[in-house]
Amino acid sequence: MPLEAKGISFRYGNCPWILKDFSLTVNRGEVVGISGHSGCGKSTLARILSGYEEPQLGTVTLDGKPLPRHGYNPVQLILQHPEKAVNPRWRMDKTINEGWVPDQEMLDAFGINDNWLKRWPNELSAGELQRFCVVRALSSQTSVLIADEMTTMLDALIQAQIWHVVTEIAKKRNLALIVISHEKHLIKRLCQRVIEM
Ligand SMILES: Nc1ncnc2c1ncn2[C@@H]1O[C@H](COP(=O)(O)OP(=O)(O)OP(=O)(O)O)[C@@H](O)[C@H]1O
Ligand SMILES: [Mg+2]
Repeated sequence: MPLEAKGISFRYGNCPWILKDFSLTVNRGEVVGISGHSGCGKSTLARILSGYEEPQLGTVTLDGKPLPRHGYNPVQLILQHPEKAVNPRWRMDKTINEGWVPDQEMLDAFGINDNWLKRWPNELSAGELQRFCVVRALSSQTSVLIADEMTTMLDALIQAQIWHVVTEIAKKRNLALIVISHEKHLIKRLCQRVIEM
């Protein structure tokens, strides 16, 4: 069942409209890319689709129902800068167990070392920290994963590793995967369909 955005219009305060009557449907099992120039509203759209920003007009539904306001969000958003997505005062074991408790197999799949779990976020590299953010987003309750420039800051090797694991999991669990990136080759490689904003 799909994530559906219908007739979304959005602007910040009195600024010009960023989204005007925008609609999008992403089905489970689909990998959809969103691309467009810097500042066109991709991250804003990602926040709207995951319920963190309220559009002035339009609706976002998952399986025909509004996104839940409490508890685990089945539409998980992964940000470009993982350091902005974690509490600096929480060690990684607390951070990762915030939404669910991943098993060892999941930690191993993302190459997360046991000794990273007792570290603070600032004691990890960006690539190491991003792996935690990705795992945190992959509870069995997740049905849509939105990756907003998820690996843009990482080197090619780590980028490839993370995408390999994420796309395998998405396939296995029949997740809807939305890939936001300005890297056209990445979108082309991963996505069945691309939306130009
Ligand atoms: N909180 C805010 N208040 C006012 N304007 C904002 C706010 N956040 C973003 N904007 C503006 O909204 C527009 C869209 O921003 P957004 O971050 O969605 O773009 P983007 O497509 O993700 O860009 P990029 O490719 O650089 O990540 C930009 O012009 C930005 O300056
Ligand atoms: Mg952005």
